[in-house]
Amino acid sequence: MTQYEKLKNELRQAPRRWLVTGVAGFIGSNLLETLLKLDQHVVGLDNFSTGFQHNFDEVQQLVSDKQWQRFSFVQGDIRDLATCRDVCGQVDFVLHQAALGSVPRSIDDPLLTNENNLTGFLNMLVAARDARVQRFVYAASSSTYGDHPDLPKVEDTIGKPLSPYAVTKYVNELYADVFARTYGFQTIGLRYFNIFGRRQDPNGAYAAVMPKWFSALIRGEALFINGDGETSRDFCYIDNCVQGNLLAATASNPAALNQVYNIAFGERTTLNELFNLIQQRVHAILPEIKATTPTYRDFRPGDVRHSLADISKASNLLGYEPLYSVKDGLDQAAEWYVSQLG
Ligand SMILES: NC(=O)c1ccc[n+]([C@@H]2O[C@H](COP(=O)([O-])OP(=O)(O)OC[C@H]3O[C@@H](n4cnc5c(N)ncnc54)[C@H](O)[C@@H]3O)[C@@H](O)[C@H]2O)c1
Repeated sequence: MTQYEKLKNELRQAPRRWLVTGVAGFIGSNLLETLLKLDQHVVGLDNFSTGFQHNFDEVQQLVSDKQWQRFSFVQGDIRDLATCRDVCGQVDFVLHQAALGSVPRSIDDPLLTNENNLTGFLNMLVAARDARVQRFVYAASSSTYGDHPDLPKVEDTIGKPLSPYAVTKYVNELYADVFARTYGFQTIGLRYFNIFGRRQDPNGAYAAVMPKWFSALIRGEALFINGDGETSRDFCYIDNCVQGNLLAATASNPAALNQVYNIAFGERTTLNELFNLIQQRVHAILPEIKATTPTYRDFRPGDVRHSLADISKASNLLGYEPLYSVKDGLDQAAEWYVSQLG
């Protein structure tokens, strides 16, 4: 039995209380779904800036009425310390996801990204520390590797940030580390590498590449590749990311605490390969959709060229074993996007 299977059994036997910030978003709503299916109690916080009520509606369909009643939602903003304090009372673990994602958004509006990702983060740390939350697990980012050329990325070796977004995610790590040293508060940062899957928003100027391409193919819209298509990423299916969060929140090995971990699958896919994989899957479900070719355009500022994670630290210290390969995840994601947009 994997460590994750064992953990899920333990949680079912002895449910805990979790706070998920950013709960109406892509990753947050998937954490909510898994936690409720494990009969956990969940408090959720979101201001709906990039999250949606329809994500809650979908989760509600996927759990029992009894499980849904274990969820209480607060609509509010992490930039407000009083709100953060309200939601931290009585919770065992915080899974902090609320932030403004997207490198281009942060280049367009660094102040807004800073307020949400840094001031909001610090508010949450202070509120969770004062409420004596057992552990604070937060969404860090692979963007912290910045301009460092080494592959695969190993946690201790980072470069200079390439965007305001990357600065905020790196400073989150510095604050979490200082809270561990100064106040003895337990934190774990998870550097997510291009997470994808159900409920990742395909709409808007700042949508991530994968939902954007699913949507363009299904809706018959123009599809663009930034650069020559040989840019590569370590795409990681959402269920692997959820696993990483639950293992991090409950890890009992002292060496595992107050650390940051890569959360990825550990395989590199170029954008050209990704385009073909997505097109094959959409075509298999909707054969009437004609094959299309992408339009290549300029590289995007702030984007790193290649990304690939070494996941051995998460595997050794947390027992992280990603179950879904990129292809497995794309099979699932294709079904979901076609059901939503087809
Ligand atoms: N998706 C990825 O590939 C990826 C990669 C690296 C890091 N991350 C990080 O993971 C976290 C979740 O990302 P996601 O992909 O689910 O994005 P998302 O936009 O779907 O979810 C973020 C959620 O946070 C909420 N939120 C934003 N600002 C808030 C505020 N001030 N107060 C309260 N709620 C607020 C939004 O409304 C949204 O529901 C973010 O911290 C993001 O930076 C994501």
